[in-house]
Amino acid sequence: MAIQWFPGHMHLTRKAIEERIKDIDVVIEMLDARLPGSSANPLLAELTGHKPALKVINKQDLADPTRTPLWLDWYNAKLETHAIALDASDAAPARKLIEGCRKLAPTRTGLAKPMRVLICGIPNVGKSTLINTLSDKRQAKTGDEAGVTKVEQRIVLADDFYLWDTPGMLWPRIVVDQSGDRLAASGAVGRNAYDEESVVLDLLAYLKLHYGAQLSERYKLGLEAAEIGALHDDEVLEKIARKRGAVMPGGKLNLQKASEIVLTDFRSGVLGRISLETPAEYEGWLAEAAIKEEARALKKAEMDKRKKRKAPSRERPRTPE
Ligand code: G4P
Repeated sequence: MAIQWFPGHMHLTRKAIEERIKDIDVVIEMLDARLPGSSANPLLAELTGHKPALKVINKQDLADPTRTPLWLDWYNAKLETHAIALDASDAAPARKLIEGCRKLAPTRTGLAKPMRVLICGIPNVGKSTLINTLSDKRQAKTGDEAGVTKVEQRIVLADDFYLWDTPGMLWPRIVVDQSGDRLAASGAVGRNAYDEESVVLDLLAYLKLHYGAQLSERYKLGLEAAEIGALHDDEVLEKIARKRGAVMPGGKLNLQKASEIVLTDFRSGVLGRISLETPAEYEGWLAEAAIKEEARALKKAEMDKRKKRKAPSRERPRTPE
């Protein structure tokens, strides 16, 4: 399903990153542990491509504990990249962040060569929560610095370790179809940008196959995982609506209400620890998206060519002498 979002402060944040990146040693990207591929911002990769990257797979308490290690391995296998998993229950995340960055830029130490780090992430990934924990613990120097773009905030994690915060940023166009629904389900996308029922049907299409037992337990469906897996996505939502009393006067099912219940349950973790993608699945989607993008580019080039051929020539017709 197409998700149309307004990327918010994207232009301002993009400019701030472009200005700051020259003096940055490591870029921390916070990812949602339930969707560690889909929550990675391709625009950020474009803006910071050559810099060492620390991937913080956050909200690990909500994610499938068997899948997070797969994602850590996947990111750790990439060049100049180190990955750690984190969640808000960690009372001292600063140590993990400092250690992770030092692995990537070991020569940046001491007052003469302090470590300079930029922290980025999509909305709702838990960045403010982490920054607040870091700020409280260190009683750090925060707020705007003279000459620094207002959208940034600097935090001093150690005498020789500076962290610059940036606002949550999405990117203008989702190329991987599956990522749009996952981002919407996670709460990263504003409510007006998507249709809840449609996002929930996509969510259920995945959950019924991989987390059927949790669905059955939460909504008291009384079905085995395999039985749920065999149902149509609509049927799963209808069963949930019935079980949760989402019925309108006249007996019609209120699927909108049932969708809201599923989304709230998924986001808060009461459905259980769930991850919506594995590295192998995500790689498959990326490959499909690349083929689609190529076809799209070819079609566009063909249309441009046709338009050019159709357009009347601007040259004046030559008059015979
Ligand atoms: P952001 O700055 O990246 O936009 O995200 P923010 O820190 O505001 O966090 C978004 C929501 O995610 C908040 O919940 C926050 O409590 C929750 N959160 C952050 N980190 C974690 C984590 O590691 N695990 C879990 N389970 N939740 C986390 P909220 O319901 O929107 O607000 P609140 O009422 O909980 O503050």
